[in-house]
Amino acid sequence: MKLILALTLLLSGNTFAEERAEVAKSFMKALQKELMTGMKKGPKAGLIHCNDKAIPVTNSFNNDKYEVGRVSLKLRNPSNAPSDDLKKVLSKYSSSSAKSPMEAKVIVLSNNEEVFVKPLYMKGACLNCHGANIQSGVKSELQKRYPDDKAVGYKLGEFRGLVWVKKK
Ligand code: HEC
Repeated sequence: MKLILALTLLLSGNTFAEERAEVAKSFMKALQKELMTGMKKGPKAGLIHCNDKAIPVTNSFNNDKYEVGRVSLKLRNPSNAPSDDLKKVLSKYSSSSAKSPMEAKVIVLSNNEEVFVKPLYMKGACLNCHGANIQSGVKSELQKRYPDDKAVGYKLGEFRGLVWVKKK
């Protein structure tokens, strides 16, 4: 009996992680879709589009079942600020890179809540808006919309932040 119980717990534990991973995946897909739509007209249009859509898309994934978001130690939008717990998690991930990535996993927070986190690494296209050589038109638009923008100067493959999913 005990073994069956342990097995059931183990298996359901796995599905919880997988379920959250699925939510994280569709959240990132939805954001990427908006990014691509905007980028068709160039990085400046892409930026304006993301500025309009990122938060509404994030909110549309926050429902009675899940809470989702993106966090970083170098923020563009202050509403993506990490909690103290997630700050610690971000520091642990910050030495990883696309070449030596860390795994996505479920982490238990200090209040015993479980959160699924998945690292994001800088790809070539991301550098248009987060890199060291940003087009001047994009740069001025960034300054206008995010006067306290810290999310620039990234290199290819660098750790950018985390997607997180909590189950309610
Ligand atoms: C067209 C410009 C553009 C491109 C390309 C872009 N981003 Fe962003 N990124 C933004 C904007 C604008 C925000 C702020 C969105 C908001 O207001 O919530 C942002 C915010 C973020 C955030 C949330 C944390 C924060 O600082 O607010 C993460 C994480 C992120 N981007 C990662 C990426 C990754 C990874 C890529 C490549 C796959 C990428 N970005 C490509 C413009 C861009």
